[in-house]
Amino acid sequence: MADLRRAEYPLSSKYDADWLLDCDMGPNPLWLLEDLARDLDLRPGLKVLDLGSGKGATSVFLAKEYGVQVWAADLWIEPSVAAANFAAHGVDAVALKANAHALPFAHEFFDVILSIDSYEYFGTADSYLPYLVTFLKPGGQLGVATPALTREIRDLGHIPEHIKKLVGWEAIAWHTADWWRFHWEITELVEVTSARLQESGWRDWLAWAEAISERTGTPDASLEMLHADQGELLTFALVTARKPARVPD
Ligand SMILES: C[S@@+](CC[C@H](N)C(=O)[O-])C[C@H]1O[C@@H](n2cnc3c(N)ncnc32)[C@H](O)[C@@H]1O
Repeated sequence: MADLRRAEYPLSSKYDADWLLDCDMGPNPLWLLEDLARDLDLRPGLKVLDLGSGKGATSVFLAKEYGVQVWAADLWIEPSVAAANFAAHGVDAVALKANAHALPFAHEFFDVILSIDSYEYFGTADSYLPYLVTFLKPGGQLGVATPALTREIRDLGHIPEHIKKLVGWEAIAWHTADWWRFHWEITELVEVTSARLQESGWRDWLAWAEAISERTGTPDASLEMLHADQGELLTFALVTARKPARVPD
């Protein structure tokens, strides 16, 4: 039986490791979310969009640990997969198929929008944040955990070989926390409340890849890249922001 318990992630440690590994779509989403949540104010009853929710592990965690109401939206995974996980955990959340660029929600519907290991697929265009914040209430919060490099690829001048070998050009979406801060703040549509690179990002990623390899009996595809990197470039960026409250007339 796998063991993913970590002193630094006490809430995530309560969840069955085999279930989490079976939901695998990338490095431990609960560790990422638990860390990101330290920079957010999640209170019972808030309406939360889990954007790019995959198989729904983070939505289960959000509902159970913070008592929020969750809408789990994903493009590639059938909503029935997340819905089955919600039922198994006694969680009352909504699972739906949705493209992050054509969200089927009313404007200003959500108190919080979160995206764990997904934003890199749809959120780097200049026009994306302005679109997404239309779904946030005034005063609402945004939180993103996304693969990152400690240096911008633009500054390196190339995609490092060990990263290119696994992810190819997609690595150009793996920005530094400072890049995200500037990219969001310049719009003046949100106030960035924190933007940091996870110190434990590479180590956690490696621990997850090792656990996946053990569970499946085959080396995880990311192991070679992580070993070659040794924590020099690869980590995760955790970025949070708040939409300004409406100014009374
Ligand atoms: C690496 S998986 C992470 C899933 C989940 N958050 C987790 O951490 O286990 C990336 C997810 O992004 C979702 N995704 C990619 N492009 C999307 C888009 N345009 N709209 C909505 N979801 C998208 C995919 O469906 C996929 O489930």
